[in-house]
Amino acid sequence: MTDNLFPIDAKILDRATKESLLQQRGQVIWLSGLSGSGKSTLANALERKLHSEKFATTLLDGDNIRTGLNSGLGFSDEDRAENIRRIAEVSKLFVQAGVIVINSFITPQNSLRKLARNILGQDDLIEVFVECSFEECERRDVKGLYAKAKAGGIPDFTGQGSAFEIPENPDLILYTEKVSEADALETLYKFVRSRLNLK
Ligand code: ADX
Repeated sequence: MTDNLFPIDAKILDRATKESLLQQRGQVIWLSGLSGSGKSTLANALERKLHSEKFATTLLDGDNIRTGLNSGLGFSDEDRAENIRRIAEVSKLFVQAGVIVINSFITPQNSLRKLARNILGQDDLIEVFVECSFEECERRDVKGLYAKAKAGGIPDFTGQGSAFEIPENPDLILYTEKVSEADALETLYKFVRSRLNLK
């Protein structure tokens, strides 16, 4: 399928030059966790905080990407893998442009996290697990999806009809059930902040 294609990598203005203009290191902060665990809230707050400090950021979020770029994909294992593959590839383009990418996706399996890491590379990815029990997410039920799934309306719902594997080697775990949103954000911010500057 890649026959007769000639990527122009060598000719494109390089990443270091773009990072130098922005005075930051491009990278991806990837938040995984159950629906309702707090990923989007934390991602949004982190982006605003970094933006206010003049970092160039972008935020990719499950519900947004799935209504745009990935609107044809569902929630089978195969579609979730394609969802994550495309997101990782898009993130890589942003990183090449020196941008800080904040991703908020359930990313329910270790194979998917590995797929993202293989595409992005170890040095450009910070993997964050937003930990919250199924029961607590069900109690919060911000979008009403847990009630709908319980009533049989979502057969492949993550944590019910479709498995969520605990991440094997996250760089950071945020316990949103045990700590306040503000504290979780502070922990996330501190962890991320030290890795953004150009060396
Ligand atoms: S992932 O598993 O492929 O990483 P992603 O983060 O893109 O999922 O999308 C999750 C969002 O889709 C949820 O926040 C929820 O609003 C919505 N959604 C719709 N159907 C499902 C489902 N079966 N399982 C989980 N989330 C679903």
